[in-house]
Amino acid sequence: MSHEPEGWEAQRAELDVWKGAPLEELVQHIVDRYHREARVEMARLETQVEEAALMEGRRHPVLLELREEVARFCVDLRAHLHAEERMLFPALLDLAHGRPPQASEDLLEPLKLLEDEHGAVAGLFKRMRALTDGFVPPADARTSQRKLFETLQALSDSLYRHIYLENQVLFARVRALKM
Ligand SMILES: [Fe+2]
Ligand SMILES: [Fe+2]
Repeated sequence: MSHEPEGWEAQRAELDVWKGAPLEELVQHIVDRYHREARVEMARLETQVEEAALMEGRRHPVLLELREEVARFCVDLRAHLHAEERMLFPALLDLAHGRPPQASEDLLEPLKLLEDEHGAVAGLFKRMRALTDGFVPPADARTSQRKLFETLQALSDSLYRHIYLENQVLFARVRALKM
């Protein structure tokens, strides 16, 4: 997974509270908060990386590389959010309303696939972190690069919480239902 956010132990304790919440509320919370944050931050990231690459790419060629990485990451994460919202989450809401899926494979296979995708998007983020020395701008960086790195850090933290809430709370709960 990507880098642990600051104060992770306390954050994890807050996220673990969702282990006891109704399934429907948990799914809604993930979409309302984390999918929304991901989409807002990705849009910001794309604008900022474009600007930073244009303004500072000549002095800091890593920004040109970062632009490619951001593009790849955003394609993958958008497809992933869409797959969850279209495939898995409606099935979980059915389950929450007492309508079990036809077969356990209906849920367990998507869970495995989506978990693999979490690993893949986290891997892309890890690469961006490595490229930027942990999102620390160089001493001579201008505002566009500084803002870009702040957005990368914010999205990294949000994604970490998001993936924890899905892998360790939501998906773990679905598996524990032993369908
Ligand atoms: Fe998600
Ligand atoms: Fe996910």
